[in-house]
Amino acid sequence: MKNTIINLIHQGVNELDIETIEGLLEIPPKEDMGDFAFPCFQLAKILKKAPNMIAADIAEKIGDAKEVSKVVAMGPYVNFYLNKEIYVNNLLEQVSSNTFGDLEVGKGKTICIDYSSPNVAKKFHVGHLRTTLIGNSLYHIFEKMGYKVERINHLGDWGTQFGKLIVAYKKWGSREAVEENGIAELMKIYVKFHEEAEKDDTLNDEARAWFLKMEQGNEEALEIWEWFKEISLIEYHRIYDILGVGFDSFAGESFYRDKTGAVVEELTQKGLLVESDGANIVPLDDYDMAPCLITKKDGSSIYATRDLAAIFYRKNTYNFDKCIYVTGLEQKLHFAQVFKVVELMGYEWAKENLIHVPYGLVSLEGGKLSTRSGNIIYAEDILNESVNKIKEVIEEKNPDIKDKDDVAHKVGIGAIIFNDLYNQRIKDVIFNWDKIHSFDGETGPYVQYTYARAASVLRKTGINQVEDIDISCITDEASLTLLKDIARFPSVIENAANRLEPSVVARFVMSVAQNFNHFYHENQCNVEDEKLKLARIKIVIIAKNTIKEGLRLLGIQCPEQM
Ligand code: ARG
Repeated sequence: MKNTIINLIHQGVNELDIETIEGLLEIPPKEDMGDFAFPCFQLAKILKKAPNMIAADIAEKIGDAKEVSKVVAMGPYVNFYLNKEIYVNNLLEQVSSNTFGDLEVGKGKTICIDYSSPNVAKKFHVGHLRTTLIGNSLYHIFEKMGYKVERINHLGDWGTQFGKLIVAYKKWGSREAVEENGIAELMKIYVKFHEEAEKDDTLNDEARAWFLKMEQGNEEALEIWEWFKEISLIEYHRIYDILGVGFDSFAGESFYRDKTGAVVEELTQKGLLVESDGANIVPLDDYDMAPCLITKKDGSSIYATRDLAAIFYRKNTYNFDKCIYVTGLEQKLHFAQVFKVVELMGYEWAKENLIHVPYGLVSLEGGKLSTRSGNIIYAEDILNESVNKIKEVIEEKNPDIKDKDDVAHKVGIGAIIFNDLYNQRIKDVIFNWDKIHSFDGETGPYVQYTYARAASVLRKTGINQVEDIDISCITDEASLTLLKDIARFPSVIENAANRLEPSVVARFVMSVAQNFNHFYHENQCNVEDEKLKLARIKIVIIAKNTIKEGLRLLGIQCPEQM
């Protein structure tokens, strides 16, 4: 409709080109001032005439075009009131399609998203929950834009900590205890190692020796390590199942252990490597950064070396358009260093196509617990607690509902995801159960409840599909505001992708839910007048589908009843 107005203006005043008109066209601050407003100040300079008079001229010239119901000069502005029927028809055409919101921008391009990536033998804490949720949502968003997405779990499964774990296991562990208690047991003996190593430094030498054995392919060492990894993955998969999150690759740090040599060689050849105290580094003083450590004194590789190897492996394997890393803000320097090294190696694409997506901390309200304060909150505990709390609410308010457990699961998990993704990712996430679970705040349950309400309207009327409707039935503000809001969906998706911000989608879904509730309050659906009923139900269907699809992009499911 905007283009229609631009063309109308262009026909009226050919002194300005289409782009200029588009740049000048405004949305009036108040509903009663029309749908678009065109200021005439610029034309006044060109035509050497008062803007008020120009506005009056334009209004008269295009006053009776069929696309507008009214064109009025208001001082130096021309205000346009769209023909509601044509406008609504247009809107409906856009938003009713099955593929509404699907975009083609990403066709033929691949994006790698590196997210979740927990550290083997450590429990999954709320920080890892955030990367998992943000990464998963970005995956859905990019896929919706037509990209092929590789979901990569860069497991932290290599490094000196495994030498320590092997020593600890041999000294204080048992197969039964690890089998029974999983990661908790591994963490326990790991802590024990550190306590003992304080008193007896030779333990550290032993640990280094075991890690060296791992690097040299010692069978016994690798067998224990492999087992620890399996034990850990069982727990991680349990969490991924709860969340409904998946991956295309679990190639973690260990996958690159035989690929770091080539990187070191290339760095040497290109004259980038400098020896410092027996270690090898790439100095980055020119870029105001600490040097990037490549190999340690004993020649072993580190986290950064494996990330470098991973970049080249992914470029060769997936030929990515972009490779995106979702981690906490504390890794900002690490990624800046690694990306800079790739650039210095002569790969121009490193500048634009390697992207770090950082996020803030998680804390309980009152700031008592944060992931860096040592008081760790485990993801699984918080997810289970959320589901249990919702179960209690259901028992109290709606105990006869079908599929109680399934509903509690979707709402309990949805509440956590929504709370995580509703604010800009760089902001800290605060846990306050009352707020997260409130059914009338800006929460997941509120949006899900709105969806269930729409579903129940359709159940009650027994209508699930409506084709053509009588447009003249839809002229009220609440309906129009809702449809206009929904029509933003494609641009919302694009904006979320450009900014790597799932919150843009979360805000949109919230707004549609609020507008739907307003619409629903104003418009009874089950009315006598059949035409009116069908028109309103059509809007319910469209809103319901949009909420569902928006929530899907966030990784949230909707129960049909709540
Ligand atoms: N394992 C790391 C951590 O838990 C995150 C890995 C992120 N990805 C990467 N390619 N470095 O902090």
